[in-house]
Amino acid sequence: MSDDASDPGTDPTSNSDANDPQTAIDSQSDRRREQLDDRVFEHSAGDEQEGIPFVGAGPGNPRLLTVAGKELLEEADLVVHAGSLVNSELLDEYCSHADLVNSVGKDLEELIPLMRDAYEEGRNVVRLHSGDPAIYGAALEQMDALEHEGVPTYFVPGVTSAFAASATLRTQLTLNEVSNHVAFTRPQGKTLEPEEDHISEFVEMGDVTTCIYLGTHAVRDTMDRLLEDGADPETPVAVIYHASWPDEDVLVGSIADIAEKVEEAGYRASALVVIGDAVTGAGYERSYLYGDWANRGSSSGSGADSSESESGSGSGSGPDESTDDSEASSD
Ligand SMILES: C[S@@+](CC[C@H](N)C(=O)[O-])C[C@H]1O[C@@H](n2cnc3c(N)ncnc32)[C@H](O)[C@@H]1O
Repeated sequence: MSDDASDPGTDPTSNSDANDPQTAIDSQSDRRREQLDDRVFEHSAGDEQEGIPFVGAGPGNPRLLTVAGKELLEEADLVVHAGSLVNSELLDEYCSHADLVNSVGKDLEELIPLMRDAYEEGRNVVRLHSGDPAIYGAALEQMDALEHEGVPTYFVPGVTSAFAASATLRTQLTLNEVSNHVAFTRPQGKTLEPEEDHISEFVEMGDVTTCIYLGTHAVRDTMDRLLEDGADPETPVAVIYHASWPDEDVLVGSIADIAEKVEEAGYRASALVVIGDAVTGAGYERSYLYGDWANRGSSSGSGADSSESESGSGSGSGPDESTDDSEASSD
């Protein structure tokens, strides 16, 4: 990207095609292909930055919003939010003073001028996405369109719904000897062609926890396809509706019977589907990380707390991350 990458206002084309988001997206993509934005190296996630923050609201419970997100919402004059996917309790609690706009049903041609004009009037604008904006958030296209019009933007991460779901299930998405990988995915449908649907491949791998977003309405089709593709019908599946909301509901079953449970409950949206043995949290092996647990407290000053140190060193400049890799000691 050229030197003016961190100064979107210097793009000479920005006014002529200001109302064409696709032109903006193409132009920003071209710049990005050439060189990463200078701000990548100047800022870290969580830093205060100039511009409109694209904030992850978290899965629903207002307590699962980040501190940075809460502070930004409290100072906001205009919050453009993701409608029913953002818990209204969170809006009531943190942005009752702000103008609220529901983005559902609005296209980029409407949203971009709305946010741009408010920002240029000197108002604090926050774009609030559900969960984390980086997961099925369609945030970048809005950011590119704004940047193209001279409005800086940045991400503020949030807790994605898969993490709320695993907390609700009281399990880990990666689990020693059970699941070494996590796939965040979605099923085929209007957006994804059948050949782009990789759910069967992830499940077939065996040691992957497959987290399906945007698939509540398609649980029956998804499970049928898995069975056709030879998946073990007893593979555990959980469907977590409205994880972390007051009306959260957890359905647990298998590839063979989960669709019936979802249909009985009547859920067609707002649930996360988790497939894999990690759903139950059963069958894992203790990790090498805490392999010396029996010796904890034996050397002076280490005490029981030493077992909670991820690096195992207790100092800020401890060993590298291979120490918390359960394979490290066998390499
Ligand atoms: C457009 S995607 C947005 C995902 C969001 N960015 C995230 O990180 O969670 C919407 C999908 O996320 C999932 N989802 C969002 N919030 C959820 C929640 N609280 N509980 C379960 N699933 C949720 C559902 O699968 C829903 O169809």
